[in-house]
Amino acid sequence: MRTDGDTWDIVTGVGLTALGVATFRALESAAPDPLIQDSYAELFVRAAGEPKFMDILADPPTLAGAPLVPGFMGIRTKFFDEFFLSSVADGITQAVILAAGLDARAYRLDWPPGTIVYEIDQPDVLEFKNRVLAEHSATPRTEHRTVAVDLRSDWPAALAAAGADPAAPTAWSAEGLLPYLPGAAQDALFAHIGELSPAGSRIAVEAAPADAASSGLAEIETKYLNKNPFGDIDPAELFYYDDRTDPEQWLRDHGWSVHAATPADLAATYGVSLPDLPEELEQHWQRPRYLSAVRDPH
Ligand SMILES: C[S@@+](CC[C@H](N)C(=O)[O-])C[C@H]1O[C@@H](n2cnc3c(N)ncnc32)[C@H](O)[C@@H]1O
Repeated sequence: MRTDGDTWDIVTGVGLTALGVATFRALESAAPDPLIQDSYAELFVRAAGEPKFMDILADPPTLAGAPLVPGFMGIRTKFFDEFFLSSVADGITQAVILAAGLDARAYRLDWPPGTIVYEIDQPDVLEFKNRVLAEHSATPRTEHRTVAVDLRSDWPAALAAAGADPAAPTAWSAEGLLPYLPGAAQDALFAHIGELSPAGSRIAVEAAPADAASSGLAEIETKYLNKNPFGDIDPAELFYYDDRTDPEQWLRDHGWSVHAATPADLAATYGVSLPDLPEELEQHWQRPRYLSAVRDPH
């Protein structure tokens, strides 16, 4: 259950979902022929020491004997990696990772000199992440600024205070975020992004609406996989189900050229095969639309 202004750290509430996706990035990184390489993910999971995710790391959930979730997480991670790499290759020098969680792109990707990466998330999540990275003497591969603020509050003021330039074309990402925001906060998020995005700005979004199909997710996954991939939480219980504008529609209506891809589309692009899934799992795992969009000249 969510409440207005609720907060969390890495082992409580919504924070646990960041630990969950880090666990699957760690597993994908260690798989044969991994789609991504995130050596920091496992460090975070071990540092948090949360027993359920330690167990998943040691003994991942499987479908018909094969790990399932890491492959989907690899596809999602690669999509956002490639989005940022192509944005900076085309000259964008400002990146904003909304709800960064344990995303280590500032430390993993090959950013051109002069790029500044801003990461927004809850204070305790960023404190944990920065502490673990410092303990391992990790060095960001470009200038990197964390912005500890709630995305339901006045985050643009915090981003500006951290030095973000509202006149600079920006590459934004919203990965694994939108269902955790109330509808009004999601709509405000896009309105603010619109105000802060001069022509040439870009955005990548994971759009997966929370609705009746999301509820009972943990139960459905536990039914087909041999355990709940999210330890003992059901992310669907942390979602907000109120009305909001569809992100793809919002972007099209506000002067952005949008491309939308399904997980299956991305798997084909990346040359990986996804397993045939039971209907209930297919509904969930094939649901997200991965949007990438460019702000047109006004
Ligand atoms: C599923 S995790 C995804 C993290 C990261 N984007 C990734 O894919 O690894 C959800 C993240 O959203 C963040 N988040 C959710 N609601 C937020 C809010 N209102 N303000 C700041 N961060 C929020 C959580 O702290 C968490 O790190």
